[in-house]
Amino acid sequence: MKIALVPGDGIGVDVSREAVKVLEALDSRRSLSLEIVSFPWSADHYLATGETIPAGGFDDLSRNFDAIFMGAFGDPRVPDMKHAADILLGARFQLDLYVNYRPVRCLDDRLCPLKGYSAADVDFVVFRENTEGSYVGTGGNFKKGTPDEVALQEDISTRKGVERIIRYAFEFARDRGRRRVLMADKSNAMRFVGDLWQRTFAAVAREFPQIESSHLYVDALCLQLVRDPRPFDVIVTNNMFGDIVTDLGAALQGGLGMAGSGNIHPGRISMFEPVHGSAPKYAGTGKANPFGAILTVALMLEHLGRGAEAREIEGAVAECVRDRRCTFDVGGELSTSQAGDAVIERLS
Ligand code: NAD
Ligand code: IPM
Ligand code: MN
Repeated sequence: MKIALVPGDGIGVDVSREAVKVLEALDSRRSLSLEIVSFPWSADHYLATGETIPAGGFDDLSRNFDAIFMGAFGDPRVPDMKHAADILLGARFQLDLYVNYRPVRCLDDRLCPLKGYSAADVDFVVFRENTEGSYVGTGGNFKKGTPDEVALQEDISTRKGVERIIRYAFEFARDRGRRRVLMADKSNAMRFVGDLWQRTFAAVAREFPQIESSHLYVDALCLQLVRDPRPFDVIVTNNMFGDIVTDLGAALQGGLGMAGSGNIHPGRISMFEPVHGSAPKYAGTGKANPFGAILTVALMLEHLGRGAEAREIEGAVAECVRDRRCTFDVGGELSTSQAGDAVIERLS
């Protein structure tokens, strides 16, 4: 099991250290034949060398590794996020990781922020299209810096791109015993792209008659998710709506520190990262919650065929939360590294 590790910036470094500790602890107990190779790609590296990711970097990753683990990117010294665009979005786009898999599960009643609801009521999965939409970077400026300035940012959806993420969502529902797939868009305002998503969703849904399909405009989805999350099972949506909805989802899990994700291309190398960013104010302070990163390790192990180990990690994290062996953001008093240790103590 050869893992490429890119801790990145800020708390990405802090939480990646704990993720690695958990992987190594499992390796010593279960012989995962683990090999971790760390890459320095980050804001520091970019500012020192001018390089974001070396030529051939992604080829190397896809040829020589089983999976990639990334921490987080973002640094106030790089306001245009150039390095994150190349490394993080670069990985998603260049490796064609079209499935952004973001499970939203609340592990403890104490973490559920909704009045009258409990952890069991928050259990759904968001599939975010990860290679198109308004993230493609087409557009530009005209008369920049003048009073007549124009900025264009195009939102691109292709039939192939929309169809493959929707089909993945239905297949996931079918294979994991989930019963409902909901597509969220903004087709009332964005007709061209919305129409493509609507027609494609209807066509793919017909292939899965055993799965209930439905639609909500994404604004209405946000409202319903905080009003009553119980009906939601599998949600599929575009790149930007998926980004926004999964921060809302993170809040339903107890905060950004609790959310993990996978960036997947079935059958090819995939990349795993917590949902949160680099939270510069907590970098190096020991305050960052490592559980989102550790739950991300579970997603990675599951993807690599080690489902039993994945379940064990999830169970250990849930126990830590229950016992308040966790960081301040989820009601504990432990430091980042103590919280990582607490998870390891609970592995068999
Ligand atoms: P953020 O996720 O870094 O943090 C927002 C807030 O959430 C933090 O201030 C903190 O209160 C809380 N938080 C997040 N993760 C936490 C953790 N592990 N433990 C405890 N609290 C946590 O989002 P932001 O402040 O909007 O962005 C900071 C930088 O990160 C920006 O440069 C942004 O572009 C970038 N970013 C990167 C990624 C990524 O690399 N995947 C994701 C989101 C944001
Ligand atoms: C995420 C982040 C990224 C995104 C940013 C850092 C570009 O918010 O992974 O959720 O929007 O995809
Ligand atoms: Mn985000």
